[in-house]
Amino acid sequence: MLSGAFLMPAFSVVTFGCQMNAHDSSRMEEVLLGAGYDKAEGPESADVVVLNTCSVREKAEQKLRSEVGRLGLLKRKRPELLIGVAGCVAQQEGERLLKSLPQIDLIIGPDNIKELPSLLHDLESGGLPRVRTVFDVDEPSFLMAEPSRASSATSAYVTVMKGCNERCSYCIVPYTRGPERYRPAREILEEIRRFVDAGVREITLLGQTVNSYRDPEGRLPVAPHYGESRLKWPRGSVPREDETEFPALLYAIAEAAPELWRLRYTSPHPRHLTPSLIHAHEQIGMLAKHVHMPVQSGSNAMLKRMIRRYTREEYLERTRALTEAVPGLTLSTDMIVGFPGETDEDFEESISLVQEAGFVALFGFKYSQRPYTPALKLKDDVSEEEKSRRLTRLFEVVDAQKAAHLAGLVGREVAVLVDGTGKTGEASGRTEQNEIVHIEAPVGELPVSGSLVSVKIERAYKNSLRGSWLRTLAASPLPRDKIQSAIVTPRGESEKRSDAGRRSLPVV
Ligand code: 5AD
Ligand code: SF4
Repeated sequence: MLSGAFLMPAFSVVTFGCQMNAHDSSRMEEVLLGAGYDKAEGPESADVVVLNTCSVREKAEQKLRSEVGRLGLLKRKRPELLIGVAGCVAQQEGERLLKSLPQIDLIIGPDNIKELPSLLHDLESGGLPRVRTVFDVDEPSFLMAEPSRASSATSAYVTVMKGCNERCSYCIVPYTRGPERYRPAREILEEIRRFVDAGVREITLLGQTVNSYRDPEGRLPVAPHYGESRLKWPRGSVPREDETEFPALLYAIAEAAPELWRLRYTSPHPRHLTPSLIHAHEQIGMLAKHVHMPVQSGSNAMLKRMIRRYTREEYLERTRALTEAVPGLTLSTDMIVGFPGETDEDFEESISLVQEAGFVALFGFKYSQRPYTPALKLKDDVSEEEKSRRLTRLFEVVDAQKAAHLAGLVGREVAVLVDGTGKTGEASGRTEQNEIVHIEAPVGELPVSGSLVSVKIERAYKNSLRGSWLRTLAASPLPRDKIQSAIVTPRGESEKRSDAGRRSLPVV
């Protein structure tokens, strides 16, 4: 129901899927707030609900269908309620979705976010349901974030590119997000400056293949070791083809925003883990000592069928060069089990690669057939039970590695960027290597969100660490009245929370 003559309509954006989607949702919210809409507490009290969808795996799509069903019931009571569907399922299904779920009023693709207010306005004035899913290939646009000091957090995401030119045979992303388009370095640096000025101290660069970045305006200086070929190169490829301007962008960010404490990126493609990127990790202090480098399989036969364009040996050579260059750097990865034709031996190759690479975290997925993907031609011939068994085994191996890694940190002093107080009021944060740390401190000394503190690790849990505060390395740049004060909680409660397995989805 439109909330009366004096109130603006209220919206609610519900996000499914990856960080790219979470980021798009923030842009949608900013666009709607800018157009005068209010933010509702949730879908129940909203006049407009936008479901921002994911279609990388089947489950996310089923979730959308049940969510639309639920909102449909709400709409029966309040026929003025507008239901929009954004994101990858919107881009993928378009008209078809409108036909199969008639409760929906608007289908909007990831590149059409800025048109959201005008499309909603048409609907509010009695317009018919619409589909708007056009890629901005000719004139790519990247909406600039508008952080304010008052609303700011410690960490923020910045998009550097969108779309994907790879053709991994299982993946729907090239279809739903279109070809690669790069954001001008000038805009990236400006957005990062805005965030830093608003108090942000950790930036994660986002892109489907984030390290394929090139500056469309060609303004970045050449990075050291550009195009060098110390490493073996993927079959049929030459160094220059895999080289990118991503390392140059990292140097430019470090120079433009020296106040940043941490710089991360996700998700890179192993092909672009070049000598110049490895060198950038050696040189740039703010680059976090953790890289998420999706591998997908440890079997060369599977990698070839997946069209990943590297071999197991090449992946290992590159990641080894990186961890040798930056001692202490941890690696995590994405892995698919049960890809068509994956034998027990192929799967064992994945297990041995996990061990050789020494991953301390892993996002594992059972292969699921997706529309419009080349792998549809292959028979989905690994049974559901076998996929489950392989996934369980994979998690057992990586969990043991993670446990050993976390146990090895007990007694060590680490720097933790405090990112908040838990529901029960406890301070926690992340290390450079991305471990979660729960922090104990004398009452009155418990660090606030946004500060960088030194912590002595005392205990390791399954997925996190506990330590005691030693000293504050850098105070929070955030306005004090916006920071919730942290209260110490009883041990038992936070332990349960910390062990509650974190396997949320990374960006593709
Ligand atoms: N089936 C299973 N997992 C998939 N991913 C992408 N497509 C599929 C699929 N069809 C996984 C990959 C990717 C992650 C984000 O999702 O591991 O890196
Ligand atoms: Fe592109 Fe990543 Fe999908 Fe491969 S898995 S097609 S690199 S988005």
